[in-house]
Amino acid sequence: MKSKDFDTALIDLTSHNQKGDSIVERIIAIANQKGGVGKTTTSINLSACLAELGKKVLAIDMDPQGNMTSGLGIDKNNVEYTIYDLIIGEADVEKVICTEALENLDVLPANVDLSAAEIELIGVDNKEYIIRDEIEKVKENYDYIIIDCPPSLSMLTINAMTTADTVLVPIQCEYYALEGLSQLIHTIDLVKERLNPKLEMEGVVFTMYDARTNLSLQVVENVKENLNKTIYKTIIPRNIRLAEAPSHGMPINLYDPKSAGAENYRLLAEEVIHKGEEEWQ
Ligand SMILES: Nc1ncnc2c1ncn2[C@@H]1O[C@H](COP(=O)(O)OP(=O)(O)O)[C@@H](O)[C@H]1O
Ligand SMILES: [Mg+2]
Repeated sequence: MKSKDFDTALIDLTSHNQKGDSIVERIIAIANQKGGVGKTTTSINLSACLAELGKKVLAIDMDPQGNMTSGLGIDKNNVEYTIYDLIIGEADVEKVICTEALENLDVLPANVDLSAAEIELIGVDNKEYIIRDEIEKVKENYDYIIIDCPPSLSMLTINAMTTADTVLVPIQCEYYALEGLSQLIHTIDLVKERLNPKLEMEGVVFTMYDARTNLSLQVVENVKENLNKTIYKTIIPRNIRLAEAPSHGMPINLYDPKSAGAENYRLLAEEVIHKGEEEWQ
C-alpha cells in the first residue's frame, strides 16, 4: 500500500465510530405532545448551532405546520418535494432533501400536505418504519440528525422515534410543565420495548425560562425532584429574539448572534456533543 493510500485508509477508520459503519453520531427526536413548549425553536436552533460548530446536520421536519422548514429559510409552499412524498413513495430521499439550506445544514422539509400522512399510512406494512428505512440510505452523510416532532403521539411521532437513537424533551417553564410527561415517557418506553430497542432518553431541556418570576425557578426545581431523567444544564431563557427569528427565516445564531437565545442554544449544542462523547462512544 502506498503511503498516501494508507493515510486515506486511516482517515476512513477514524471517521467511523464504534457503532458500526455509519459516521452518524446521533439521531435525536425532539418530542413532547404538548404544543408551544419549544420543540420547533429547539430543533431549528440546535441544528443550526451544531452546524456552526462544524457538524454536518440533517434537520427533519415531521410537523405538518412546517415551521422548522420555514424557520430555516425554506419556502415550504414552493418546494418540489416534501417528506410527504417520501412517505407515500413518490420521491427518493435524496430528491426530497434541500441541501445546504445553511452551511453544513440540510433540511427534509414539510408542509401542510403531511397532515394527510396519517390516513395514507393506514394498512401499510411496516408503517412504523417508513422514515427510518429512508434515512438509512443517507445517514452516513451526517454527524447529527435532528427530528422536529408534531404536537401529538401520532404515527408521525412513532416514525420519528423508530428512526431516532434518543428523544430530547423540551419542557416549558410553566405551571403545567409535568402534565402529559408520564404519557410521553410511557410512549418512549413502549417504542423501545416493541419497535426500537436502541432508543434512549436523551434528556430534558428547560425552555422559556423567565428569571424574573419565581414560577420558572419552581418548575425547574419541581421537575428535577420528580423526574429521574437526564436534565440538560443549559436552560433556554425566554428571549424575544428567539420568537422573532423564524419570521426572518433565520436561526438565532444568524439573526442575532449575540443574543441570550443564541448564546444558550450554542451552549446546548456543545452539551449535546459532549454528552455523546461521554455516554454513547
Ligand atoms: N425561549 C423562547 N423565548 C421566547 N419565545 C419562544 C422561546 N421558545 C419558543 N418561543 C415561542 O413560543 C412559541 C412556541 O414555540 P415552538 O418552538 O413553536 O413550540 P412547539 O414546536 O413545541 O409547538 C413560538 O411562537 C416561539 O417563537
Ligand atoms: Mg412545533
